[in-house]
Amino acid sequence: MKIVSVVGARPNFMKIAPVADAIASYNSGAAEDARIRHVLVHTGQHYDERMSKLFFEDLCIPRPDVDLEVGSGSHAEQTAEVMKRFEKVVLGERPDFVLVVGDVNSTIACALTAAKLGVGVIHVEAGLRSFDRSMPEEINRLLTDAISDVLFTTERSAMENLAREGVPGDKVFFVGNVMIDTLLKNVRKSEGSAIREDLGLGEGPYGVLTLHRPSNVDDPGVLTVIFDALMEISREIPIVFPIHPRTMTRLGEFGLDGRITPLEGGRRVDGGGIYATDPLGYLDFLCLMANAGVVLTDSGGIQEETTILHVPCITMRENTERPVTLTEGTNRLVGTDRDKIVGACRDALEGRFPRGEGPELWDGKASERIVRVLVERFM
Ligand code: UD1
Repeated sequence: MKIVSVVGARPNFMKIAPVADAIASYNSGAAEDARIRHVLVHTGQHYDERMSKLFFEDLCIPRPDVDLEVGSGSHAEQTAEVMKRFEKVVLGERPDFVLVVGDVNSTIACALTAAKLGVGVIHVEAGLRSFDRSMPEEINRLLTDAISDVLFTTERSAMENLAREGVPGDKVFFVGNVMIDTLLKNVRKSEGSAIREDLGLGEGPYGVLTLHRPSNVDDPGVLTVIFDALMEISREIPIVFPIHPRTMTRLGEFGLDGRITPLEGGRRVDGGGIYATDPLGYLDFLCLMANAGVVLTDSGGIQEETTILHVPCITMRENTERPVTLTEGTNRLVGTDRDKIVGACRDALEGRFPRGEGPELWDGKASERIVRVLVERFM
């Protein structure tokens, strides 16, 4: 069996790493003619060293066999460019399956290319729905699932969503969460990171902030309200803010960059404040999150990671496609309401957040299950 796997943007890397590992480990015990030939393609949707290369190093992901180097553009440009370049790869490699993860533009672009060429599509992290079609990712999820032949899900809500959309049950496999495979494998190693000392965080509680969704950062009114709330919180605790390139640009455009407290020589001087850093590598970010008093975010994956780390997560969105993090985890949705953000932060710092049980099958073995299904059902 030959599989071409695709990565494109930052959240894809931690999902593909354990799948590549599980394939290699299966191959090491399999007869030559029973092995999976695995080709890794990077679309280049994310290309900065800190948004891409760092993750390959931290997670020991094999170097991509092919780099399409598409870079940034409008959604249509980016998706179309990935499709044009990826089509040549599929025609050359002639795989049995193309495996895509998550919900970024590279995911739908490569799934659609494969489906049109009659190549089977495997979607890892299928079935998640925010029911908010103004999110580009929701469109990517709906379309990718509609043309996938094998769908691997992370939580039971995803099974219900796919059943409601008419996806036949025999294509769908509940295997758990590959991103959590990566987290569990690396959490001890991440404790060796010096990031907290490097940033001068000291002993007290601190917050970690990430913010990059277009709905939050592209509208000056919304971003200002979020920053009003953050300023209030940051009078009490320091907030570390690894900034996504898109957010960095917007802060400058909207004149909000003055609200960031400068690091001196890369370190916090004293007291509260919002301390911006470049995007961090996987191990440094995991270390920061695991030891934080509270995490504030609009990311999808971070809602899941904090759930397993038992760290309070305040999600600045109106909805989540990952409802199990609300019912079994440590996540709370607060939208972009200033009082709700500040109130939730107080609750988190004063111990009024659930510890979280940890969702079903988020046990570090999702990738193994995926490879087992592929070998037993589709080889
Ligand atoms: C993408 C995903 C989003 C995911 C996020 C994680 C889509 C639709 N969105 O959003 O689901 O949560 O990645 O980071 O696929 N840029 C750089 N360097 C880079 C990459 C991007 O400077 O390496 C800048 C460019 O100005 C670019 C902008 O960031 O235009 C946005 O990048 P893009 O890949 O379009 O989407 P993200 O916002 O990163």
